[in-house]
Amino acid sequence: MTGEPRAARTEEVVVTACPDGPLLVRGPVRLVDLAGREIERHRATVALCRCGGTAIPPWCDGTHKVNGYRSGDGS
Ligand code: FES
Repeated sequence: MTGEPRAARTEEVVVTACPDGPLLVRGPVRLVDLAGREIERHRATVALCRCGGTAIPPWCDGTHKVNGYRSGDGS
């Protein structure tokens, strides 16, 4: 336990770098495009592509598994 109030913990945003894969984003983050337009998310946890190969940006579509993407940083 961190001693934080429960409500504060549930508002936390956590980004997890998956080894050779996407960034998993959990929490109440607001996603926007370069123009500042809201990107709708339909799940509490979303996977953002970081390999550049997805057909549905900014979301991961699993292409990283076939395009040889390596994160190269141990994550
Ligand atoms: S990280 Fe999964 S498609 Fe790019």
